[in-house]
Amino acid sequence: MKEQLERIRVSALEALAQAKESADLESLRIKILGKKGELTAVLKTMGKLSAEERPVMGQLANSVRAGIEEALEQRKKELAAAALEARLEAEAVDVTVPGTAPTLGHRHPMNIALDEVKEAAIGMGFRILEGPEVELAEYNFTKLNTEEGHPARDWSDTFYLKEDSSVLLRTQTSPMQIRAMEAIGKPPIRILAPGRVFRKDEVDATHSPMFHQIEGLVIDKGITMADLKGTLEAFVKSLYGEDCVVRFRPHHFPFTEPSCELDVQCFKCHGAGCPTCKGEGWIELLGAGMVHPKVLEGCGIDPDVYSGFAFGIGLERMAMRRFQISDLRLIFENDVRFLEQF
Ligand code: PHE
Repeated sequence: MKEQLERIRVSALEALAQAKESADLESLRIKILGKKGELTAVLKTMGKLSAEERPVMGQLANSVRAGIEEALEQRKKELAAAALEARLEAEAVDVTVPGTAPTLGHRHPMNIALDEVKEAAIGMGFRILEGPEVELAEYNFTKLNTEEGHPARDWSDTFYLKEDSSVLLRTQTSPMQIRAMEAIGKPPIRILAPGRVFRKDEVDATHSPMFHQIEGLVIDKGITMADLKGTLEAFVKSLYGEDCVVRFRPHHFPFTEPSCELDVQCFKCHGAGCPTCKGEGWIELLGAGMVHPKVLEGCGIDPDVYSGFAFGIGLERMAMRRFQISDLRLIFENDVRFLEQF
C-alpha cells in the first residue's frame, strides 16, 4: 500500500505540474481525490490492514492527500497569474504607436464673415438678436409701411404659407426692426439681427431663393443721417480696413425716409472698373435709411421724441467680397474642395 500511495503522489504531482488550464486541475482533483478517485480507492482498502499498520498508513495517506491538495492550490494560483499576465499582454495599448489624426472640420466662410460683422457691431455697442424665419405678413410688410398691393408683396416674389397671404417665409430681416422695438420698448435701442431670408428667385451666380441678411437698428433721441453715415462708414472700415472708400447713394425703401445704399470702392480696380465690379468701380454692400416716422409710431415710439436709422447687409455678398468668391452657388453646394480653402 505504501508504494501505491507513493505512486499516486508522484504521478499526481507530475500531472498537476503539466496542467495547462484550471479545468484540467478540476478533472485531476476528481480523478485523484474524488469519491471514485485513485486515493479514495486506496483508502477504502485500509480496513484490510493490521491494527499496527493502519495508523501508519493512515498518516501517510493524509500527508499524500495534503501534499496533493497543496500542489493543486499552488498550481491554481500559478495558472491564474499566467492567465492574468496573458490578458494584460493581449489587451496592452502601445502608447508609442503613432496615432491617426482625426480630420477636423472648420467654420463655413459664411460663418467667418458673419462672426466678423458681429464682432465689429458688438464693439460698437450693438446687441445680437435672432427672430423667426416663418413670419407674419404684418411684420414683414404692413408694419414696415408696405401696404397691401405693394409690388413687394406679390405672390410671384414671396413664399406665402397661407392662402390668405398672412404668413410667409420672411423676405428680409427688417421685421426684426419691429420685433426689437416691440420687445425692448423704450429707446435707446441698438441691435443687430442676422438670419436667413427667402425670395422666389431662380438660382444663378448672384441669386438664390434663400440667402442671409444682417439687420441693424439704432433708435435714440437726436439720431440723424450724420449718425447713420458715420456709424456705417466706421463699421465698414473696421471690416475692410481704414483705407477702404465708401459712398452713399440715394435709394428708396418703404420703411426708411430718406433711404440710401452704401457702396464700397472695388478692391480690385480701385474705382477704375473691372469684371469683379462689372465695370462699375463700386460694389453695393447694404441698404439703409432713417426709420420712417410711421414705423416708429406703429411700434409705440413717439417720432417727435425719438429717431433712428436701420440698415440691411447682404451677407453672401459680403462673404463673396471678403473671400473673392465669384459664384454664389459655391457657398451653398457644400463641396469640401471649395470649403477646405478657408
Ligand atoms: N430690407 C431691405 C432689403 O432687403 C434692406 C434695408 C434694411 C433697407 C434696413 C433699409 C433699412 O433690401
